[in-house]
Amino acid sequence: MFETLSRLNEDAILGVMAKYRADPSPLKIDLGVGVYRDAEGHTPVLECVRIAERRIVDAQVTKTYVAPAGREEFNAAVVDLVLGRDHLAVGDRRVIAVQTPGGCGALRVGAELLRAAAPDATIHVSDPTWANHLPLLGGAGLRLQRYPYYDAAAHRLSFDAMIERLQRAPAGDVVLLHACCHNPTGADLDDDQWHTIAELLSRRGLVPYLDLAYQGFGLDLDADAQGVRSIASRLPECLIATSFSKNLGLYRERVGALLVVGASEERAAAIRSHVLQIARSIYSMPPDHGAAIATEILTDPALRRNWVAELATMRERVRAMRRLLADSLRRQGGDDGYDYLAHQRGMFSLLGAPPAVVERLREEFHVYMTADGRMNLAGLTPSSVDPLAHAILRATR
Ligand code: LMR
Repeated sequence: MFETLSRLNEDAILGVMAKYRADPSPLKIDLGVGVYRDAEGHTPVLECVRIAERRIVDAQVTKTYVAPAGREEFNAAVVDLVLGRDHLAVGDRRVIAVQTPGGCGALRVGAELLRAAAPDATIHVSDPTWANHLPLLGGAGLRLQRYPYYDAAAHRLSFDAMIERLQRAPAGDVVLLHACCHNPTGADLDDDQWHTIAELLSRRGLVPYLDLAYQGFGLDLDADAQGVRSIASRLPECLIATSFSKNLGLYRERVGALLVVGASEERAAAIRSHVLQIARSIYSMPPDHGAAIATEILTDPALRRNWVAELATMRERVRAMRRLLADSLRRQGGDDGYDYLAHQRGMFSLLGAPPAVVERLREEFHVYMTADGRMNLAGLTPSSVDPLAHAILRATR
């Protein structure tokens, strides 16, 4: 039977991770997969996670099933974190939240929900977008289209072109928006632009789907959720996929949630019943351990303070690496062509170089990034900044 299957290309992001691991060079620099690294190049277990984990292991008395929705205490804490305590939609009981296996699980469950509700809808994604959006959303049977988002030559948003394209999308279509720390460009919408988008979506009858995978990595936990909060208060319906892989460093535990805002309390209840059935039909129930850790941290005030401080340390380190790299490129290259790296947000920015340059960086300089030139700047350390700047200037000139 399986002779019908030919071998697939490797994953655009995970393939780079495997290549980096296989390179024995002590000089190698990993700007590939989107994980945070500290100044020694390690992806640490946060201290708040260690404390929470110890408590959970000591107190646990059973491993019996939880539920397709996961932990309700977790779901409630996530709604608070994402939408804020006093959000109108929460007060109106129009928000449902379901724990999922990571942000990917949330995105897929949301896509299956959209497919069930509106099988003919198209989902519009930014050009460029995270490589895994395409299989996650397309695999549920949704049609995908791209809207202009980023001007790679000028290193900034193509906001007018984005608006112009979305204005032509038919009512009932879905628009996927990166809530903060856009992956792969690092170029985010500002408050006015969020306002304009919310107004456009509302006027055109489009449904927003927000991917919030990096809350806390841009400005802070609240500021990074501003776009989501403003969309959720201006539109009757929206979907939000969130993840604790990055901001709690719980990557391998697979902790995320899907939030859906419905037009009324009854609609929200109906949506929830579908979401639970979808979860049951794909993975039955989400894994518990990571969500138990997240719940402990989100609901214990002292642990939560520790987390906010540790998150600030991670965020500031990435920002410092961005500034150091931009400075080094200006010093070594003699112009300000890479200054944009210092201003963009989150882990990623695009180098703006063709795949041949990316390949040369890997083969000659042991620098690893995805073929589109996406760099995870959290992979830099103070000692790898100057060698990286040197390699970039050599490979691009
Ligand atoms: C990334 O964008 O590199 C991360 O979100 C990891 C992944 O699963 O692709």
